[in-house]
Amino acid sequence: MNYQIQDSDIALLSKAGVPEDDIKHCKKVAEKALEIAQKTGQKLDMELAGRGALFHDLGKAVTHAIEHGKIGAEMGADLGLPQTVTDIMEKHIRGGLTEEEARELNLPIKDYTLKTLEEKIVIYADRLVDIITDGIVDIGQDEREAERRFEQILKEYPKYGKNFKTLQRYLGYHQEIQALIKK
Ligand SMILES: [Fe+2]
Repeated sequence: MNYQIQDSDIALLSKAGVPEDDIKHCKKVAEKALEIAQKTGQKLDMELAGRGALFHDLGKAVTHAIEHGKIGAEMGADLGLPQTVTDIMEKHIRGGLTEEEARELNLPIKDYTLKTLEEKIVIYADRLVDIITDGIVDIGQDEREAERRFEQILKEYPKYGKNFKTLQRYLGYHQEIQALIKK
């Protein structure tokens, strides 16, 4: 892999005021996204996967509410991050909302659905890391257990599935990505 998480990027999160726990989460999601991206065997923009994951929760410097995606993307633009990265930050909420769902959640009305494999890998990694670190589900010592039991865990625990549309999106990313890994 020719891309590595940069200390200077972690310093940016810190300087922006992202709480320490959230920085830890962001690092773990970046590591997981890079691991998954590598495993797919696809030619991917590893820097985009790594930085999109690392910065996805930048907005948590300001709020942990659902607006942290939009706020983070604005902060990222001010920091000069590429739009491909800020798009991931803005779109990661609930795994990529449709315009209709954005309206219901009082977010700026637009299409947040995920288009690229890099975007989907970041959002999938975010979910996996929550499952691995929350301790709500005992997955034992092997992190890959979160991938093996992903469908069952999402269906069983509303915290991870959220609602029907979100659940379907996450299951879709899981299936698409795992199909590539198994190839
Ligand atoms: Fe988030």
